[in-house]
Amino acid sequence: MQKDVGSICSTEPNRLGFYSLFPMKLRALLALLIFSPALALFAEKSTSHPGYTFSDDHPGDATGKVYMGRFISHVMGHQGAPWLERSSREREEQPSKLVELMDIQPGDHVADIGAGSGYHVRRIAPIVGDEGQVYAVDIQPEMLAILERGLAAEGIKNVTMILGEIDDPKLPPASIDMAFMVDVYHEFSHPYEMTAALCQALKPGGRLILVEYRKEDPSIPIKPSHKMTAAQIRKEMAVHPLEHVSTDSMSLPWQHVAIFRKTAEPQAKD
Ligand SMILES: C[S@@+](CC[C@H](N)C(=O)[O-])C[C@H]1O[C@@H](n2cnc3c(N)ncnc32)[C@H](O)[C@@H]1O
Repeated sequence: MQKDVGSICSTEPNRLGFYSLFPMKLRALLALLIFSPALALFAEKSTSHPGYTFSDDHPGDATGKVYMGRFISHVMGHQGAPWLERSSREREEQPSKLVELMDIQPGDHVADIGAGSGYHVRRIAPIVGDEGQVYAVDIQPEMLAILERGLAAEGIKNVTMILGEIDDPKLPPASIDMAFMVDVYHEFSHPYEMTAALCQALKPGGRLILVEYRKEDPSIPIKPSHKMTAAQIRKEMAVHPLEHVSTDSMSLPWQHVAIFRKTAEPQAKD
């Protein structure tokens, strides 16, 4: 799919399929009756695309695309890189504390999705070390160019840069111990497809971490569509094969840190 930074996509179908009747109608009906309890259990556990809707009546900082009751925000352009690198960020957001909370180990393979200018990549690469690997994924080549300059300036060599697509981070399957997104998920124009692809890229038991500005707190000086509630984060992750590990809404001044773990089987919905 083509990159579509900041635009509102045209109507997309819910990807639920439908099944036509088989010719042996009676046999199928009999099988259905015999196996219906097992089928009911399977139906409860299976995941499916909740679909997108579109509305012209949207806040100015959001696109008109709606996912699970949430207006999707615009993507921050590469012109915002100086804000990501601002000197007040440590005081305002405590990203050093975030790195501790993410519990990254030497040798880990970690993906920073929506890495932007590489603010977090440069802090995490020394922790995973030579035995580890950081994947820095973004959809804006201009952001990756800024990121590359920062890595070169600090002599960091264990980072693989990936130009992703709006619905595909282009990561190798079952290769990642942990994928994280800082101030990114709410911008995804295709949140269902991106999260499904990230689940594919995680190793079994791998962690997915969302760091989002707390929408519950109006005093946090961020536009509303660039914030999420803890409940909305859990709701959107519940349609994927992920179990909720924890949501820490206290440790950082402005952000939730929501941690999920990839499960072998899709989770039943709450
Ligand atoms: C607000 S910036 C945050 C950058 C970085 N995480 C940070 O905290 O410094 C959001 C970034 O997400 C990127 N982004 C948006 N949608 C994306 C997608 N589908 N895949 C990868 N990156 C995406 C944008 O290009 C932008 O660089």
